[in-house]
Amino acid sequence: MPLMNQQPLLHIRVMIEDDLEAVVAIEVASYPVPWKHEHFKDEIAARYSWPFVAVEEGNVVGYACLMSLFEEAQILNIAVQSSRRGRGIARMLLEHAFSLALEKGAEVMSLEVRASNIAAISLYEKLDFTRVGIRTGYYESTEDAILMEKPLKESP
Ligand SMILES: CC(C)(COP(=O)(O)OP(=O)(O)OC[C@H]1O[C@@H](n2cnc3c(N)ncnc32)[C@H](O)[C@@H]1OP(=O)(O)O)[C@@H](O)C(=O)NCCC(=O)NCCS
Repeated sequence: MPLMNQQPLLHIRVMIEDDLEAVVAIEVASYPVPWKHEHFKDEIAARYSWPFVAVEEGNVVGYACLMSLFEEAQILNIAVQSSRRGRGIARMLLEHAFSLALEKGAEVMSLEVRASNIAAISLYEKLDFTRVGIRTGYYESTEDAILMEKPLKESP
């Protein structure tokens, strides 16, 4: 007989405060200027934010923070535990964000990425984001941010 409530090996669910120790550990290992615990806590509470985590065998292995307001959605943060990268987890998180944003009525998704972050830029381009602008010296007043966008709805 199949087990009831059995979770798939890798699944995505809403981020909760109990996840934050694991989330912040991934964050600190992933970014030169990491978000703090309070920042994620605010995202969990915020009205137009939908943070979620990827869970593998009970462990948080990645997360993304989506904001969606009217027709515009934005990826505010996404990271995958370094030992679990290259296995499609970020793609899965972004695909979840696309369907969630569409559900909330968004028509376009945008994000900012460091110009030096080749892995993330490749990921976004693979998922049909295109470069739409640059914010010069956006990060620590020295590194440019590339602005990227992806339409969520096919034009009629
Ligand atoms: C960017 C990041 C989220 C990618 O996570 P991931 O789970 O390893 O990505 P995936 O396995 O889903 O990769 C999907 C696609 O992204 C691209 N990609 C991912 N990592 C890459 C790398 N190191 N180099 C080049 N392309 C890469 C590839 O096109 C890949 O598709 P493929 O496997 O068919 O070649 C991860 O490297 C990370 O957490 N980095 C630190 C945090 C960060 O930079 N976040 C983005 C901030 S804007």
